[in-house]
Amino acid sequence: MKAIQFNSYGDSSVLQLQEVATPVPKAHELLIHVVATTINPFDIKNRSGAMKAFVPITFPYIPGTDVSGMVLEIGAAVTRFKVGDLIFATASHGTYAEYVCINEETASLIPDQLSINEAAALAVPLNTAYSILVESAKLQPGEKVLIHGAGGAVGMVVLQMAKALGADVIGTASGKGLELISSLGANEVIDYKTQDFSELVKDLDLVVDLVGGETQLKSYPLVKKGGKLLSIVMPPDDELALNHGITAQFINSVGSHKKLDFGKRLVESNKIRIEVAKVMNIARAAEAQDLVSAGGLNGKIVLNF
Ligand SMILES: NC(=O)c1ccc[n+]([C@@H]2O[C@H](COP(=O)([O-])OP(=O)(O)OC[C@H]3O[C@@H](n4cnc5c(N)ncnc54)[C@H](OP(=O)(O)O)[C@@H]3O)[C@@H](O)[C@H]2O)c1
Repeated sequence: MKAIQFNSYGDSSVLQLQEVATPVPKAHELLIHVVATTINPFDIKNRSGAMKAFVPITFPYIPGTDVSGMVLEIGAAVTRFKVGDLIFATASHGTYAEYVCINEETASLIPDQLSINEAAALAVPLNTAYSILVESAKLQPGEKVLIHGAGGAVGMVVLQMAKALGADVIGTASGKGLELISSLGANEVIDYKTQDFSELVKDLDLVVDLVGGETQLKSYPLVKKGGKLLSIVMPPDDELALNHGITAQFINSVGSHKKLDFGKRLVESNKIRIEVAKVMNIARAAEAQDLVSAGGLNGKIVLNF
C-alpha cells in the first residue's frame, strides 16, 4: 500500500509517499480502507521532534490520528462492525495510509448528516470536546465558559458542545474566526490579537485552554473559586491553581466510540458541525502540514487518497 512516512525528525520535507506493507488486523481491530484523514497539530509537533520526550516514536513512522473509510476486514473478536461499514475513528498514528488497522473501540458508524471528509475532520474534535466538557468539567447548564482558540478545529466543536450542554460561552479568535464563532453561538467574542481577554472577563466556571503559554498563565485569576481550568496543550501550574482556589488539569484525550456516539447525537440534531477548510491529495501532505502551521484556517485540512 501507499503511505506517507518519515525516517527522521525535521521539517515537512521529511514526509515521503512510499510503498509499505499493508497491516493485518489483530483480534479487536478493523482493517480500514482509508478515504480521508486530516492534519492535526499533533502530527506536526510529532514530525518536528517537539514531542519526542513525551511521545517517543520508532522510525519509519506513519503519522495521522483520525480516519474515515470502509471496513475491509475484521479481527476474530470484533463484535460491533461488519465488512462494508463506513466508519470514522481515531488512532494513535498510522492514518496517512491507504489502509490502517484500528481498534473497534475507537470507531463509530458515520451518520447520514456527515460527508466522509467531515467525518474524518470531526473524529479528534468530538473525542476531545467530550473529554474536556463531559468527562473532566462535568459542565452544567448556565455555567460560564471561556474557550481560548475557539476558532480552531477543536475549539469550534468545544464551543458548540458547550452551547448544546447549556453553557454561556465566551470565545477568543482572530480574523474570520471571529465571525465564525459568533455564527456557532458564542455569547461573547474576543479578538485575541487586538483585545486583552484578562480585562474583559471574570467569575468564570471554566476556562478551556487550547492555546497555552501566557494565555494560560493570565487565565487563573479569571476563574471563580471552585472553578476549573482545563488545558489540552500545556500542563497547568498546580501552585497557581492552589493559590486561586481552583482545579487545573491537563487532558490527554483518549479516543472512544462512546465519545464519538455522544457527539454524533449532537451532529444528528444539527447542534454540531465542522468546517473543512481544504481537501488535498495525500501526496501533498507536506504542503498541507505547512498550511496548518501557518494558521488562520478556521477549519480542517482533509487528505484524500
Ligand atoms: N491533548 C489532547 O488530547 C489534544 C487533542 C486535540 C488537540 N490538541 C491540541 O490542541 C491545540 C488545538 O488543536 P486544533 O486542531 O484546534 O488546532 P487548529 O485548528 O490549528 O486551531 C488553533 C487555533 O488557535 C488559535 N490561536 C492561536 N493563538 C491564539 C491565542 N493566543 N489566543 C486565542 N486563539 C489562538 C488559532 O487562531 P488564528 O488562526 O486566528 O491565529 C486557531 O484557530 C493544538 O495544540 C493541538 O495539538 C490536544
